[in-house]
Amino acid sequence: MHLEKVKLIDIPTHADSRGILSSIEQNIDISFEIKRVFYIHHITGNRGNHAPIDTDELLIPISGSFSIRLYDKTSSKVFLMNDITKGLFIPRLIFLEMFDFSENAVCLVLANTKYDANKYLRTKEDFYSYVNKI
Ligand code: TYD
Repeated sequence: MHLEKVKLIDIPTHADSRGILSSIEQNIDISFEIKRVFYIHHITGNRGNHAPIDTDELLIPISGSFSIRLYDKTSSKVFLMNDITKGLFIPRLIFLEMFDFSENAVCLVLANTKYDANKYLRTKEDFYSYVNKI
C-alpha cells in the first residue's frame, strides 16, 4: 500500500537562549534532492485536490495548523499538521486534500521537481483510473 510510505519526520532543531533554528538537509533528513520550494499563505479556501505524478514532497506547517487527507488507490488517511518541528513526507501518486486551515496558517513545501502543471492528476476519477493501470 502506497500510503505506508507517507511518514512524519522529526526536523532537527537547535535551541538556545535566542530561540530555535530548524534545518533540513537533502539525503540526510529527507530522501530526495530539493529542486523547488514553495509556500502557501493567506489561505482562504481548501488547497491541493490533486495528485502529483512525479513529485515527492515534504510539507511543514510553518505557522498555524491544517488537516490533510491522503489517498492511495485503496484507502485514505488524515493527518493534523500543527507542529512546526514535524514534516510530512508524501511520495508521488498520492491524492491530497488540504483543509481546516487556521488563521495565519503557512505551509512550506519542499519538492524534488521543477513545477510542471501537466504533471498532476486533478480529479479523483483521473487519479483512480491512473493508479489502477500501473
Ligand atoms: P495549485 O497547484 O493550485 O496550488 P495548491 O496545491 O496549493 O492547491 O497552484 C496554484 C497556482 O500556483 C497555479 O497557478 C500554479 C502555480 N504554481 C507555481 O507556479 N509553482 C508551483 O511550484 C506550484 C505548486 C504552483
